[in-house]
Amino acid sequence: MDTEIAMKCLFLTLTVSCQLMLLPLWGQKDTHKVKDERQAYRVALGRSLFRSPHLSGKKQMTCATCHEPSYSFTDGVAESPGILGTGVGRNSPTMFAIAHVPQFPGPRLANASPLKSSQALTLAERCLVPIENPLEMASSVKDAIGRLKNSQGMKASFERAYGPGILGITAKRVGEALAAYLSTIEAPNSPYRNFLAGDQNALSTFERRGLKIFQGGGQCAHCHSGEALSDGLLHTAFLPGSARDVAQSQRGLILAAKARRSFANMKMQLPETGIGRELFDRLAPQLQGCDATMSASANRRTTYDGQDPSFKQMHTLSLWDVARTGPYFRDGSVATLEQTIQTHVSELRQVRANWKRVRNLRKQANRRAGSKTAKRLLPKWIGHPKGVPTPDDLTAGDLQAVLAFLKTLSPRS
Ligand code: HEC
Ligand code: HEC
Repeated sequence: MDTEIAMKCLFLTLTVSCQLMLLPLWGQKDTHKVKDERQAYRVALGRSLFRSPHLSGKKQMTCATCHEPSYSFTDGVAESPGILGTGVGRNSPTMFAIAHVPQFPGPRLANASPLKSSQALTLAERCLVPIENPLEMASSVKDAIGRLKNSQGMKASFERAYGPGILGITAKRVGEALAAYLSTIEAPNSPYRNFLAGDQNALSTFERRGLKIFQGGGQCAHCHSGEALSDGLLHTAFLPGSARDVAQSQRGLILAAKARRSFANMKMQLPETGIGRELFDRLAPQLQGCDATMSASANRRTTYDGQDPSFKQMHTLSLWDVARTGPYFRDGSVATLEQTIQTHVSELRQVRANWKRVRNLRKQANRRAGSKTAKRLLPKWIGHPKGVPTPDDLTAGDLQAVLAFLKTLSPRS
């Protein structure tokens, strides 16, 4: 081990001194060329990591298992099965334009290095989360790096992407490479993209009416904004205690009950420490039984992503290619796009009408979850119920126009 490090140091010194010697010969252009080349290698590395089973415990999953490019980077089912096959409680979202989402919520856990807890995560940090999620890839970043180190060609790929050096394969680099690859996945070639690029005729009159409502009366663009059509914020998208909320809480508890048993059956070794371990212990505490018939607050447990089961804030979903990314919502509870808009609008109206209650419940849930949600992830109108944007007076015809507009976010078939 020591000799290996010593050799690497020697190698590094030699490379650095060689580079220093060559420096006067290098023009500005060449430095850029090296940077561009490295970036291209980083994208290529990210693409291969996205399909690498080494990131998952027991090597059963890849990122593409759930974000399959030919399914618009989703898996086409309501709930991703995950490594246990029991479901992960969430619907897999698209990766189109994902690099334009300003930030992502992290699991709400304490001291969860290298994945910060309850913080706003960058895309690179977010990419490491599934590796440690006990229901998704069920490993640790540390173990994944160990497997990558033993895998043929990986060391060389990291060297091409990051240059030679003693650092080699690190968590930060794995995240960065995955993010570099995801940054190349732009919005699909669609009528609305062409419209944004200046082609006024890309949308029909009816579709343009839908766009106007999307940006105006429907207030959709308050949350579905920016190049990813997501503000990257956490919103109360449905009423606490509503049918959808109760169904999600029950689902979370059933998952928890199954998880520990399934891991034992699979003879899987969970990491001793780290975010995956913490998530797992919250998900399926050893001493307490997990009881789906108990009320969520009596269980006092968080769901797999660290959220309080009795109250969920939802991270705005991107809408690119939405006509082809169903089933819908983060819980995959709605099958068709038309129904999704109707459900969404009526739920947002209810949240607005019950704002005071929602705000109090949110405070309580935050206290129970042990750590507060980062302010950066919350919308500015949090203390001003009147400012909550919700569509109030949309007619059935308006909703049809919005639906027609949403279909322009996919290629015309
Ligand atoms: C078992 C299925 C599964 C696997 C494997 C998986 N993901 Fe995901 N991914 C999901 C689900 C489900 C969500 C939504 C989570 C949520 O709503 O909280 C998600 C969310 C994301 C997000 C955030 C997008 C958003 O809008 O919330 C990114 C980025 C992402 N995954 C990247 C990856 C990468 C990179 C890998 C591989 C290291 C990966 N995923 C592996 C299922 C999976
Ligand atoms: C207050 C913020 C907010 C507003 C306003 C809003 N949305 Fe959303 N939207 C969200 C959030 C958050 C989600 C994810 C909700 C969930 O999973 O439960 C979402 C999900 C969706 C989805 C499902 C996407 C998928 O892939 O599953 C569609 C479609 C959608 N919104 C369209 C609209 C339309 C159309 C409007 C205007 C009528 C609108 N939204 C207004 C925040 C908002």
